[in-house]
Amino acid sequence: MKSVPRHVAIIMDGNGRWAKARGFPRIKGHEQGAQAARECVEGCGELKIEYLTLYAFSAENWQRPKSEVFALMRLLEKFLKEKTPELVEKNVRLQAIGRLTDLPGTCQEQLHKTIEQTAGNNGLTLILALSYGGRLEIIDGIKSLLRAVELGHIDKAMIDVEMFSKHLYTRYYPDPDLLIRTSGEMRLSNFLLWQLSYTEMYVTPKLWPDFTKKDLFAAVEEYGRRQRRYGAVE
Ligand code: IPE
Ligand code: IPE
Ligand code: MG
Repeated sequence: MKSVPRHVAIIMDGNGRWAKARGFPRIKGHEQGAQAARECVEGCGELKIEYLTLYAFSAENWQRPKSEVFALMRLLEKFLKEKTPELVEKNVRLQAIGRLTDLPGTCQEQLHKTIEQTAGNNGLTLILALSYGGRLEIIDGIKSLLRAVELGHIDKAMIDVEMFSKHLYTRYYPDPDLLIRTSGEMRLSNFLLWQLSYTEMYVTPKLWPDFTKKDLFAAVEEYGRRQRRYGAVE
C-alpha cells in the first residue's frame, strides 16, 4: 500500500443493531464487536499502523440502561484480562483516554494492569477511548492550562494550538489521519473534536461486528487515494 495512515481512529458503531437483526440481546452484539476489535488490532499490526484509537464507550453512553452499561464494563474487563498475553505477544502497547476514574474500580485495575504489562512494547499503540467525550476533554484541557498559568509555568500570551494540544488526553499521540465510522451514521458523536480537524473520514454501512480485516484494508486503501490539502492549494 502506498500511503498508510500513521494513526487510525474508529467509531465502532452498530453492535446493538447487529444483535437486534438476529433476535439477540444487545450485549451479544457487543461481544461480537469485541471480536471485531481484536481482528482490527491484528490488521493494524500487519499494516504497520502506529496508532489505533477505538471509541469503546462515550461519556454519553452512561445514559444507557444500567444492565447494558454493567455488561459492557464486565466485557471490557474480561476482554482486557483475556487478551493481555496476546497484546504482549503481538508487541501492542495499550493506552487509554477519557475520564477513566468514572469506570468501576475493578475495570480500572485491570486497565492499569494491561497498560503496565504492555508498556515496554513498541509495535502498535492501541488507545481505548473510555468514558470519553470530546467536549469534556477540551474543558479538562482548559482547566489544565489555567492551572499552568496560575502556577506561573506558562504565560497566557504563549498559549497557541501546539501548546493547547499538549494539555489534552491525546498529548502523546499525533492527530488521526483516518477516521472510520461503521453502521452508516454520519456524525462524530463527541469523538476527538479537536484532533479530527483535518482527518480523512470513511463511513461504511457495515455494522461493527461485521467489520473485518478486509474492510480495514479497503478503508486504508481508499485513504491512500485521498489528497490532503490542509486548506492550501495543491
Ligand atoms: C456501539 O454500538 C458500541 C457502543 C456504543 C458501546 P451501539 O451499542 O451504539 O449499537 P447501535 O448503534 O445501537 O446499533
Ligand atoms: C458512539 O456511538 C460511541 C461509541 C461508538 C462508543 P453511539 O451509538 O453512542 O453514538 P450515537 O448515539 O449514535 O450518536
Ligand atoms: Mg450506536
